[in-house]
Amino acid sequence: MSCSSPIAVIDFGSQYTQLIVRRVRELGFFSKLYAPDDLKETGSPAAVILSGGPRSVSDADAPGIDLDYLKAMGVPVLGVCYGMQLLVTRGGGGVTPSNKREYGPAKLLPTGESLLFSGVSPESQIWMSHSDTVGDLPEGVAVIARNQHDTPVALKFSDDWFGIQFHPEVSHSHEGMQILENFLKLAKDAPRFQIESFKDHLVEEIRKQVKGREVVCGVSGGVDSTVLAMLLHEAEIPIRAIFVDHGLLRKDEASEVQAQFEQLGVEIETIDVSARFFGALEGVTDPEKKRRIIGDLFIDVFFETAAHIDLLAQGTLYPDVIESASSGSIASKIKTHHNRVDRILELLKEGRVIEPLAELFKDEVRLLGKTLGIPHPILYRHPFPGPGLAVRCPGEVTPEKLEIIRGGDAVFMRQLKESGWYDKVWQAYCALIPVKTVGVKGDERSYEYAVTLRAVVSEDAMTASWVHLPYELLGSISNEILNDVPGVNRVLYDISTKPPASIEWE
Ligand code: XMP
Repeated sequence: MSCSSPIAVIDFGSQYTQLIVRRVRELGFFSKLYAPDDLKETGSPAAVILSGGPRSVSDADAPGIDLDYLKAMGVPVLGVCYGMQLLVTRGGGGVTPSNKREYGPAKLLPTGESLLFSGVSPESQIWMSHSDTVGDLPEGVAVIARNQHDTPVALKFSDDWFGIQFHPEVSHSHEGMQILENFLKLAKDAPRFQIESFKDHLVEEIRKQVKGREVVCGVSGGVDSTVLAMLLHEAEIPIRAIFVDHGLLRKDEASEVQAQFEQLGVEIETIDVSARFFGALEGVTDPEKKRRIIGDLFIDVFFETAAHIDLLAQGTLYPDVIESASSGSIASKIKTHHNRVDRILELLKEGRVIEPLAELFKDEVRLLGKTLGIPHPILYRHPFPGPGLAVRCPGEVTPEKLEIIRGGDAVFMRQLKESGWYDKVWQAYCALIPVKTVGVKGDERSYEYAVTLRAVVSEDAMTASWVHLPYELLGSISNEILNDVPGVNRVLYDISTKPPASIEWE
């Protein structure tokens, strides 16, 4: 599935590559990421951006680009960092390798007028992260900006080919968006990316792909699966939506999800298999083993329930696709856990999986959800992990411990919502600390568990900071939990960043 004439971003492996795609979309143009060898698969893009990368263009096996093909495409090209150096070396110029990295903020000092810097303030801050520096320039190429150390930071190759040594996509390049926008003005035929028309395009594509087959999808009540189900509903495709209640859900979650879909006009089939999950988890304390048991059993139950699957619809998002394509990263292993297991891979091979959201980022999925009439509280729910409360219950998972977590979590969420903090926090929850300590309740000695509250902000879950919730709010939550949730005599607040901690407690 794709929009015609996207802005093609060629991925040379920089940690910021995905961000370039996001920024281009934020500027209103559809954009996609391609491997350097897939240049021909970009079709007829409106412009090409060559990303940065961790390698040196001087390395013998450094990734390259088919420059003749790129020229023949006849579209504007912007090389960023490694991308710019590649244009220089492939064009007959040279770079000076260096072991010293120029990293951090710098000043953009244009050497004259350039459309690339139109509307950009003098000495605008840019963000550098490179070792090699351009040396001899190919014939006809001009330096159009330097930084305060006299390093060339922008080159003009032709009227619509440019190179920049800095990263316009990171927010530390204060006017990077303006520079990208100036470049994109050269892509004259680029269609604007609007979520409403993208929705119509998706609906049309889904109808073509489904061709009367029965569609099965799993729902969890989370944003992605809800938007997916509603999109299929909008396309007037009859779906069989299966909700597996593994018993590791939050308080009243199963009935709330049921009600949520009823309200949206989609019928779902809830399968209560909590007893099976608790049985399988009995006595298991190793976190990885717990995850494996839950993941495998979930897939077993889903496929047993669906019995025969003509077509499986999954809510896979673009970052998952990008990450699973980049080989062997830890992130890819985590993220592909559920939607790339063997049985799903088999279906994929047989062409029996559709992933209509696979070209969208999370914030775009939320916008799409809004156009489908999904209410704000559903679209802006905090993320909830597939293995549920099991990753908030270190050690053995038991119904008794989960009841404590549910009680604490319900108090925490309600107070966050009432105080207006829920929407300011990326993710928050209550976990159980599996240690009993002595306390005093009434006139009696108690020997009970502690729980911890965790509230973080994050952009992509790879790093996270704890939220400075007001002491009064923390005090009020703690009091209510200590008074109303049986089995708890201590409430803690987790002030660990990720890394070195993780977001969940497992
Ligand atoms: P950690 O604990 O790794 O969590 O810092 C990062 C983010 O990922 C979520 N998470 C999961 N989400 N299936 C999911 O769908 C999983 O197995 C899983 N494990 C962690 C976690 O809630 C946090 O947002």
